[in-house]
Amino acid sequence: MHKPPAPLEPAVEPLSGPAPELFSWEFAADPYPAYAWLREHAPVHRTTLPSGVEAWLVTRYPDARQALADTRLSKNPVNHGRSSGRTGIPGERDADLMTHLLNIDPPDHTRLRRLVSKAFTPRTVATFEPRVREITDRLIDGFAANGSADLIHEFAFPLPIYAICDLLGVPAEDQDDFRDWAGMMLRHQKPGQPGVPRGGVGRAVKKIRGYLAELIHRKRADLGDDLISELIRASDHGEHLTENEAAAMAFILLFAGFETTVNLIGNGLYALLTHPEQRARLQSSLARGETALLATAVEELLRYDGPVELATWRYATTPLTLGDQEINTGDPVLVVLAAADRDPSRFDRPDLLDLTRRDNPHLGFGHGIHYCIGAPLARLEAQYALAALLRRLPDLTLAAEPADLRWRGGLIMRGLRQLPVNFS
Ligand code: HEM
Repeated sequence: MHKPPAPLEPAVEPLSGPAPELFSWEFAADPYPAYAWLREHAPVHRTTLPSGVEAWLVTRYPDARQALADTRLSKNPVNHGRSSGRTGIPGERDADLMTHLLNIDPPDHTRLRRLVSKAFTPRTVATFEPRVREITDRLIDGFAANGSADLIHEFAFPLPIYAICDLLGVPAEDQDDFRDWAGMMLRHQKPGQPGVPRGGVGRAVKKIRGYLAELIHRKRADLGDDLISELIRASDHGEHLTENEAAAMAFILLFAGFETTVNLIGNGLYALLTHPEQRARLQSSLARGETALLATAVEELLRYDGPVELATWRYATTPLTLGDQEINTGDPVLVVLAAADRDPSRFDRPDLLDLTRRDNPHLGFGHGIHYCIGAPLARLEAQYALAALLRRLPDLTLAAEPADLRWRGGLIMRGLRQLPVNFS
């Protein structure tokens, strides 16, 4: 049988002229022409971030992969030369919440990661499958009879929040509070000012932190079969997490696993709705009860328009060369995953959305020792979410012009504010 020819799609044209403006509204709506410019003209590019901090942006795939695994680049903000490091992660001003995986290097990282990995095993995630299915179905039930919905607010946003709450062991009656606090964190991020915590973010972090401290305390006296209990139980050569470490860990799981998954589902649905032939192919394979295409589709959506624009901060601990640039000790380095994943030197026709793509070593979950610990859970949630929606609402259409949609551009993440759809 003939393989159908892959659809043609024009490559994203790099912007012409001098260095493009980064981190504006327009950039958030479509950063790919600017990334094409950077890859071509300034693959390791020094820029001033909206916060005023100067940093290097790394945009080519080989440099990005090397930087992510380079032990001379530290994750610890104390290694930022000029001012206190900014991670863009809510809670960064709260010293107790700072000791988490994304902010530390070996040997501390090795010890904490081993402890969390003991609690967060593939088996934990697999046993969680029916629960993800239940949450997904309940959310779709909530709007399926309405003929229209905003898939960010009614679907992509609540799904990961309820999933992580369940996983951590937050009781059902408290989960709507979490939903509100997470909503505050999202609402108060201002495009153009990424990484700068605003009042609402601080309040939400305080609430979550207080709640988690109390929950950990309660669970210590009455361990269950949830992740927080596992974190308390986990020990490494007889060494346990302190309550503060467990709280920081629970917080980073919540933070790292929430907006990322919202955006994977949101950006992924948007990509499918705007690529009808790819979506039709996925839909017919699901209708035949096949799952192979669903698996490669989620990887391709992570590559094509993944939720994490830039990996979190790294700081040079010694002078080093990246690409053709000399990086000084203390300089922040930001690896632009979204740009690397469209690099034509690594991906065949990188601006084409091809759900069947097999040669796809994308950096959407990072690379090296900080590779996303939640990747199996994120894959599970995204696969269920996309499959359930396409099966149950097969005639889903976008209810707005793509140009009218607003994007939430943070320094680290990028995703839609709303995704209005119609269906019968
Ligand atoms: C690390 C992406 C979902 C927990 C990372 C990194 C990336 C990433 C790129 C590496 C950052 C760096 O090197 O600076 C994503 C994406 C997700 C997702 C795209 C969803 C689509 C999750 C979920 C959880 C999670 C669901 C947990 C519930 C973590 C943690 C780390 C991490 C704890 C730090 C690991 C370490 O430093 O050792 N993630 N993530 N992520 N992710 Fe995820």
